[in-house]
Amino acid sequence: MNYDDILAKLAELRNKGVKVPEDRMIKTPEQIEGIRKASLVNSKVLDAVEAKIRPLMTTEEIDQIVHCTSIELGGYPAPLGYEGFPKSCCTSINEQVCHGIPSKNDVLVVGDIVNVDCTTKVNGYYGDASRMFIIGGKTDPKHERLIKVTKECLDKAFAAIVPWETTLGDIGYIINKHAKQNGFSVVEEVGGHGVGLELHEDPFVMHVGKKGQGMLIVPGMVFTIEPMINEGKRHVFIDASNDWTIYTQDRSYSAQWEYTIAVFDDHCEILSK
Ligand code: MF3
Ligand code: CO
Ligand code: CO
Repeated sequence: MNYDDILAKLAELRNKGVKVPEDRMIKTPEQIEGIRKASLVNSKVLDAVEAKIRPLMTTEEIDQIVHCTSIELGGYPAPLGYEGFPKSCCTSINEQVCHGIPSKNDVLVVGDIVNVDCTTKVNGYYGDASRMFIIGGKTDPKHERLIKVTKECLDKAFAAIVPWETTLGDIGYIINKHAKQNGFSVVEEVGGHGVGLELHEDPFVMHVGKKGQGMLIVPGMVFTIEPMINEGKRHVFIDASNDWTIYTQDRSYSAQWEYTIAVFDDHCEILSK
């Protein structure tokens, strides 16, 4: 189905009262190709982090790897200066849920679990992904399970998407169900988002939800899924000293994985992971 046919079908469904994305949330094939290129660079930046991350490294050094690799590969680290964010990526350690700010004072030690979240801008287009790392390769089995289950939440949600059938509510339902079944909880205040022409676009992608509810997922949509799963309770707070970093209220450990995905006629693709 071409771009115009998608918009026509959306208008038809909208008239019938179906909750569908607005036209501005549908990307053209050219835009998707641009986002695909940015996403390839985005994944390579994370590969560079993965190759170099090790015990006794500071999160400032991770930031430098992200900054340098992004620019070497013809891109730009989009977080830098985004709404005043001071660094090129987010590094969230242990009980930090997301938006951890890289610092020369934060030394990664064996057993730490850290999420590195990179967004890369290339030729005006954005790709956004994050991965978990276990420093030194080994940690408490409970944290290992948290990381594994969080990845499964993301993979299950992605695998369930059938264009014109699945809704954003289904995605949240699947993630929350799998997290709960494993004794974990899902952060609700932060979520996935449309991405591609900006870092954060509509729609907001909740990681909890009801089956069949919310916006229909249709071809031309590009968005992230990025569940944040806590070992303890779901509640979080923002660090008042920097107004960015989100922590678990109960100081339990938290994990997150993020993909940028694109929806096509009859399938869905991971653009960056
Ligand atoms: N990459 C983050 C996300 O997944 C956004 C980071 S914005 C920043 O949405 F300013 F905190 F870097
Ligand atoms: Co994101
Ligand atoms: Co991100």
